[in-house]
Amino acid sequence: MRVLGIETSCDETGVALYDEHRGLLAHALYSQVRLHAGFGGVVPELASRDHVRKLLPLVREVLAEAGCAAGGVDGVAYTEGPGLVGALLVGAAFARGFAFSRGVPCVGVHHMEGHLLAPMLEPGPPAFPFLALLVSGGHTMLVDVTGVGRYRVLGQTLDDAAGEAFDKTAKLLGLAYPGGPALAKLAGQGRAGRFDFPRPMLRRPGLDFSFSGLKTAVLHAVRDHPDDPATRADIARGFEDAVVDVLAGKCRRALRELGPRPLVVAGGVGANARLRQRLEGLAREAGVGLHYPRPEFCTDNGAMIAYAGLLRLPDAAAGSPDVVKARPRWPLDSLRPPGSVGAAAVAGA
Ligand code: KG4
Ligand code: ZN
Repeated sequence: MRVLGIETSCDETGVALYDEHRGLLAHALYSQVRLHAGFGGVVPELASRDHVRKLLPLVREVLAEAGCAAGGVDGVAYTEGPGLVGALLVGAAFARGFAFSRGVPCVGVHHMEGHLLAPMLEPGPPAFPFLALLVSGGHTMLVDVTGVGRYRVLGQTLDDAAGEAFDKTAKLLGLAYPGGPALAKLAGQGRAGRFDFPRPMLRRPGLDFSFSGLKTAVLHAVRDHPDDPATRADIARGFEDAVVDVLAGKCRRALRELGPRPLVVAGGVGANARLRQRLEGLAREAGVGLHYPRPEFCTDNGAMIAYAGLLRLPDAAAGSPDVVKARPRWPLDSLRPPGSVGAAAVAGA
């Protein structure tokens, strides 16, 4: 079985070909980050149009790299949601059209399931059950993963995602979008402790997150202090330390509640060096393994969609209709293990 994976939920066009026996054969990614940089954030309509432009060339590139003709594709998987509706529809229409023209099955995949399962693309993948921390520009959640399609969201952000908080704070400090990596670099030059920002939700019970108050605290600090490079670096450091404390603190609490199990980290903020360092210490202390997908599979990509698609194709074979569908909102814990879609349909028949 060879599955073509298509990712177009936000501002990256990702394509990959995954072989059931040989693993990942090829993948390609196009990031629209420069397109949106001047606007300070993703412009949905521009994102959709750029997916239209880039998708077919990327599919050609991936098939050529894998030495696979279009007829060698046995199934197609695309990101059905959650994400920007126009961007999702580009991928959905392409995937359904391609699959229909080849007479192969097609399945819509949950974007976050793709992220959760991305560590399975690496050597020494984590065993179920594991705890997953998903931290990107659009999401911040802790998930108890007991198997494929068995996800319990333990906590999520009540307002901004962690990456969004990094980007907005970076903007306050005059850094260009997306400012997460630049803010992390600036924080590296800053002094710890000069700005002691709040650790939102850390002392409250539960595993939810909130970052908007932290952003406001940074805004006040910027306003109330002279604008010099050392102060900006100290503010960046204070902000990063607060976010890392909160993320690591909630992971520790979740591991205490669930019992020891591997910790999986995915999403763009997972690239943050200070967070990685802290989570390594936490995992060592708790005696659990720490798993990251390789950097290009931490962020949005087609490989995770192709892999999740391989597992989800039984659902397509069970008769999901050939309609172009996108789900801008789609709760992760509404998913069921693969195959149960067909089983439910049969049971209901
Ligand atoms: O997963 P991702 O590539 O895209 C989605 O949001 O789906 O995550 C991008 C986010 C951005 O907010 C970016 O600023 C943040 O990840 N990011 C970082 C770092 N690298 C990327 N945040 C903090 N430190 C970093 N080193
Ligand atoms: Zn993502």
